[in-house]
Amino acid sequence: MKIIYYGNPVLRETSKEVTEVTDEIRKILDEMVETMREESGVGLAANQVGLTQRFFVCEVEGNVKKIINPEIIKFSEEEIEMEEGCLSIPRIYKRVKRPEKISVKYMNEKGETVEEELDGIWARVYQHELDHLNGVLFIDKLSPLNKRLISKRLAQIKKEGN
Ligand code: NI
Repeated sequence: MKIIYYGNPVLRETSKEVTEVTDEIRKILDEMVETMREESGVGLAANQVGLTQRFFVCEVEGNVKKIINPEIIKFSEEEIEMEEGCLSIPRIYKRVKRPEKISVKYMNEKGETVEEELDGIWARVYQHELDHLNGVLFIDKLSPLNKRLISKRLAQIKKEGN
């Protein structure tokens, strides 16, 4: 699958709920895991490969999650700063502040509803990927100064694609 880069309007779209987990979606999820690994990413949202549907894949320490129709039910009050990057915005890494822990609800690839508590990298990736499905990128959360510091690089990605 081909990664879509910053500047493509599909990254700003709000993706649509999945009504049924079909074999077609399971196949797409597998392909997305492959693409994420090829690109050495920890997460990949459907609209990053051009599909405006609400699902993403992520992998932390060899454990893969395939997340469909993700929700966040509860955020911790404590926030932490962690460095983030994005396969659609190559070679930009910046610290972003987000809630440390979250309670989430989603559908797995079998169509079962899953509820769990996430923290650490899982909580971070889940929030970053869910943002993608709402057309939000991590660079939107940077300070005006940091945005200015990366503006040249962003213009370059927009022009050249990577
Ligand atoms: Ni991303």
